[in-house]
Amino acid sequence: MAAVHIDESTWVLVLTGAGVSAESGIPTFRDANGLWENHVIEEVASPQGFARDPSLVWRFYSERRRGVLSCTPNPSHTALVDLERRLGDRFLLVTQNVDGLHVRAGSQRLIPIHGTLCESKCSGCDRAPFVDTALYLDTVLPECDRCAERGQRSLLRPNIVWFGEVLDSLALSRIESFVETAAAERLVFVAAGTSGLVYPAAGLVNVARRAGAETWLVNADRAANASSFDHFVEGASGTILPSLFS
Ligand code: OAD
Repeated sequence: MAAVHIDESTWVLVLTGAGVSAESGIPTFRDANGLWENHVIEEVASPQGFARDPSLVWRFYSERRRGVLSCTPNPSHTALVDLERRLGDRFLLVTQNVDGLHVRAGSQRLIPIHGTLCESKCSGCDRAPFVDTALYLDTVLPECDRCAERGQRSLLRPNIVWFGEVLDSLALSRIESFVETAAAERLVFVAAGTSGLVYPAAGLVNVARRAGAETWLVNADRAANASSFDHFVEGASGTILPSLFS
């Protein structure tokens, strides 16, 4: 199998998507029987959907919380922890996954650009997101106690970046500065388990290319942006990632 050569000057930026957690038993979004086949995106994953029917949105994310809490990291997650241990600050992992499995596997230099499922935040005030593994499956929805102290009522919501919302600007600048620094040496970009359809994540390969990166795609099928990559390794990430880095 082809391998990514790692030496003293190599910096690696990795982007992961739902396919990386598929072997842990977490459904992807767009495969057959994926989450978006059985749910209307606008209803469960947009601020408008939450305003219209917060109970439906909380039931959806509560079911997903229940799902991830019973799953464990797989060899894809472990392979990226091993790589981070080799590279230290020359490694950065950007994930679109909200399932927390990279953290549970031990990844530290990690940016969860689409949020974290087992965290909640307030829909009304700007308090920091906090860990919340509770399931809200009935009609009593969680409210913000900080807002209540000021005599206001606001619903809590999952800490997920919904469609129509912008990504955290600090996270984006951390990625940019990693790419800039790495460009002075040898940058390798690896995307794994992602359909290449959701931007800005799907455009990261082009950012890396402009910085002179060697680019690798590891995916079960040809992603929508596959032609932007130098190398495509087709298959299950849990099989490929553990032996991709030489
Ligand atoms: P998708 O469901 O769009 O794509 C998953 C990709 O992983 C597909 O191309 C599959 O072929 C591939 N795949 C499945 N199993 C695999 C395996 N074992 N090994 C390797 N590849 C495998 O998921 P994402 O690209 O992550 O956003 O979706 C991007 C975003 O769209 C998500 O973060 C989510 C969604 O709407 C939010 O919720 C904000």
